[in-house]
Amino acid sequence: MNSYAEKPSKGNILIVDDALNNLNLLSAILHEENYHVRKATSGQMALATCNVELPDLILLDVMMPDIDGYKVCQQLKANPNTQTIPVIFISALDDALDKVKAFEVGGVDYITKPFQISEVLARVENQLMIQRLHNQLMEQNQQLLDLNSNLEKLVQQKTQQLIEQEKTALIGRLTQGIVHNFKNPLQTIMICSDLLELKIRRDTDFEYEEINRDIKIAAIEIQQIMDNLLIKSVSDRQLSLSLLNLNQVIEQEFTLLNANLHFKHRINKKYKLDENLPAIPLIYSHISQVIHNLINNALDAMWDCKVQELTACTHQDESYIYLEIHDTGCGIPLEDISQIFDPFYTSKPAKGSEKQLGEPTGTGLGLYTCIELLKPFGGKIKVNSKVGQGSQFIVSFPKANPSGSFS
Ligand SMILES: Nc1ncnc2c1ncn2[C@@H]1O[C@H](COP(=O)(O)OP(=O)(O)O)[C@@H](O)[C@H]1O
Ligand SMILES: [Mg+2]
Repeated sequence: MNSYAEKPSKGNILIVDDALNNLNLLSAILHEENYHVRKATSGQMALATCNVELPDLILLDVMMPDIDGYKVCQQLKANPNTQTIPVIFISALDDALDKVKAFEVGGVDYITKPFQISEVLARVENQLMIQRLHNQLMEQNQQLLDLNSNLEKLVQQKTQQLIEQEKTALIGRLTQGIVHNFKNPLQTIMICSDLLELKIRRDTDFEYEEINRDIKIAAIEIQQIMDNLLIKSVSDRQLSLSLLNLNQVIEQEFTLLNANLHFKHRINKKYKLDENLPAIPLIYSHISQVIHNLINNALDAMWDCKVQELTACTHQDESYIYLEIHDTGCGIPLEDISQIFDPFYTSKPAKGSEKQLGEPTGTGLGLYTCIELLKPFGGKIKVNSKVGQGSQFIVSFPKANPSGSFS
């Protein structure tokens, strides 16, 4: 067996030269050095050979009868399949202009005849090394891009999970408030019922009418809470577009939050609603979640403030409808404002690591969720805030909905 056959090839080289003696000489030199060599005696043949199998490097004669080396090189560089193959020109012309042209058409090096064997080998090896390093870099770059896209997918998944957790937490807080608020009217009904029992047994002088009125008030209170809950749960499941009046959604959210006793009694609530606000196409559960998140942030910001005032405003101009939630809370330092919409940015402690009783906790997903939920409707959020005075979150909706996909 030929001993060369067992040595691995150092590279696949195409030599293009119409002078056969040159072609054979170069071929023999490179073959001796364990390169796999293919030969072409014209420019056309060189291009056809590349179509069959891509070489790692091309040694290209400049002066050839059909198409010259420059044109061959131009065609190779114009073809995405062959454009990265390094081309070394070989020519008897030792002229500065020709060398410039060789580089202009995409050549990487230039060898002039007569050449020394060691020079040819050094230049070939040099270019192959550059090519190998380039390929390695491209591969590593691709690996990095793949890794990056995997990482982005992971972050998206994780973010989605946390958004779901945030929603569940919201429902939890709501339920807690509702249960709390049911206790009062229920207590009243139970006491009244005990009194009635007593009255019936002992036939004492109790006021039937007064007791009956208290039972009714309590029952109506429970009825109202349940009605609100039912409307909300139906609307929340509605994931299609409907024409909504933001004033009504705001009022609904405030009424629901009244289930929370702190909200009901401690927060001074104000409305500045534009009665002529036109209805716009929105998804109820999305917009109600946005309002909820903004209100929750406002409540968090005011939790240890003396003045706790929450204002909901709506207004409009020619092109936009605005919804605003104002609070008299701690405000946001100027240097933090650019970050508050980033996912996971929070200035609040994580659940379980509060330093004071009742201190609000955060995940940093509330505002990010708002931005995501508003996007399909062309909705945007802006914020004005002063430390120690409070914040105003302003949501704007274009009157002409940009999203044709919803119409
Ligand atoms: N009304 C507000 N007043 C003061 N700071 C606010 C207000 N709304 C948001 N922020 C700031 O923006 C941060 C991010 O809010 P958000 O995305 O809802 O996450 P979280 O409420 O879980 O911290 C909050 O931690 C807070 O620092
Ligand atoms: Mg929040």
